[in-house]
Amino acid sequence: MDALLPVILRWLHIASMAVLLGGVFYAVAFAGDLAPGFKRVAYTAIGGILVSGIMNFMRRSSFPPHYHAWFGIKVLLALHIFAVILTYRGKRRALVGVVISGALVLAISAYLRFLTMA
Ligand code: HEM
Repeated sequence: MDALLPVILRWLHIASMAVLLGGVFYAVAFAGDLAPGFKRVAYTAIGGILVSGIMNFMRRSSFPPHYHAWFGIKVLLALHIFAVILTYRGKRRALVGVVISGALVLAISAYLRFLTMA
């Protein structure tokens, strides 16, 4: 039963970020623009990422060296992603920026996971 909340939070975090980054990647690589109605889905996904991310962070009782520095960079990049999507007005270049920031956030998240498992 102890595993239930962490598993639900992990699921929410990964499902939300897959929907958010997947939708933007599809626009950049294939469709040329965000799909109609994507913004509404994106608001929900951003909410899911924020709730699960903040709860994940607050549930942690100890932090390995360098954790906070990389976590801070990750959150700044995530804020860039959220801001671009929320204020998007059709500029393709901005979406390419989201894809790049998204790839960096994923790499940093993998490293944070490695730090906490080591
Ligand atoms: C687009 C934005 C984001 C993406 C793509 C993303 C992606 C990820 C991924 C893939 C993981 C690893 C999940 C796992 O292996 O269990 C993760 C973990 C995590 N994320 Fe995010 N995340 C994003 C935003 C955020 C935000 C805004 C916060 C906090 C405010 C946050 C906090 C965390 C925490 C605390 C972990 C656990 C790291 C650890 O292993 O210690 N994330 N994230």
